[in-house]
Amino acid sequence: MEVYLDTAATSIKKPDCVYKAIDNFMRTIGASPGRSVHKQGIRASRIVTDVRDKIAGLLGINNSSHLIFTLNCTEALNLAIKGILKQGDHVVVTSLEHNSVMRPLSAMIEERDITVTRVRSDADSITDPDDLRNCLRPETVLIIMPHASNVTGTIQPIEECCRIARKHGILSLVDAAQTLGCVSIDLTRLPIDLLAFSGHKCLMGPQGVGGLYIRKGLCPVPLKYGGTGSASSEEIQPDILPDKYESGTPNTPGLAGLSAALDFIAAETIEKIRQSIFEIGKIFRDGLETIKDVVVYGPRDMRFNVGIFSFTVKRRDPAEIASELEDRFGIMIRVGLHCAPSAHKIIGTFPEGTVRASIGYFTTKEEVEYFLKSLAEICND
Ligand code: ALA
Repeated sequence: MEVYLDTAATSIKKPDCVYKAIDNFMRTIGASPGRSVHKQGIRASRIVTDVRDKIAGLLGINNSSHLIFTLNCTEALNLAIKGILKQGDHVVVTSLEHNSVMRPLSAMIEERDITVTRVRSDADSITDPDDLRNCLRPETVLIIMPHASNVTGTIQPIEECCRIARKHGILSLVDAAQTLGCVSIDLTRLPIDLLAFSGHKCLMGPQGVGGLYIRKGLCPVPLKYGGTGSASSEEIQPDILPDKYESGTPNTPGLAGLSAALDFIAAETIEKIRQSIFEIGKIFRDGLETIKDVVVYGPRDMRFNVGIFSFTVKRRDPAEIASELEDRFGIMIRVGLHCAPSAHKIIGTFPEGTVRASIGYFTTKEEVEYFLKSLAEICND
């Protein structure tokens, strides 16, 4: 038996319609969108417009031009961070940040003399909005937080935190890499200014697609410049959205796949997806607790977890557990720091890291039971 439990890195199984849409685009359309006005160019353009509208619908945004497509969530976070921060700015982040946030910030410390304050989350990786409030300064321009930790799966109180930021005239950037597609995000209600997402994890699209929502009135400096198919008589970047931030031919096959994935999600509904993760996740989390010598991190209550489970086994190297899971039982999980070192400093698993298993919409109860039985065997050896 082979079991894939690494959806937090990428969803490996996609809805059938995703494979079909990519194949269909490659075979029957294939043209570049937003440029040529021949038949195939128009069909390609329509795919990009449709997928933008579908993401806008999912997030509750009226004007889909405020959604920018990027290569991945990392590129979206870079665009937001490098595009917003100026010399001497202060930023507040959580202790759960991925390196896709911390590395651009580190570069900004060097290049623009920014300062960064990290709010310490609690032992379950939950950030207290009051702690965040206490870190704000007159020169704070931005708060950044993940919607859910990619290490422990803990869902963060983004609404309270972004409300605090808004009240103080500070911008908020939410990293929704681990949530968009499996947790409802309603931007008509949430006071979020910038939201970065991945297309290939919970959204179940192919790799190579992500995006950034930019609230009306914000104008980050573009990350890249080039041809957009618009205002071509000008050698300066057009100031219209989304073109300002989308230079060069996009990953249209990927966007075609993402578009199909969004149709699948709309038909299934986010509520049903969330419920499935909740139920399968509860079996997973409760089962982990019963295995000898296993230490689980993050909240036990699945209302606060997106289906990501980090654990260690007493007196055993996490890498050794991961190898045994794959070599003896065919189970694929991720091991180490998961690109978020400071999250491990809080839960006490730095520098070895954790074994991380993550489930998705297609993970079955049988797979979870097989995993738990296999891990128990390893731990009882
Ligand atoms: N950020 C992704 C993960 O957590 C790649 O695995």
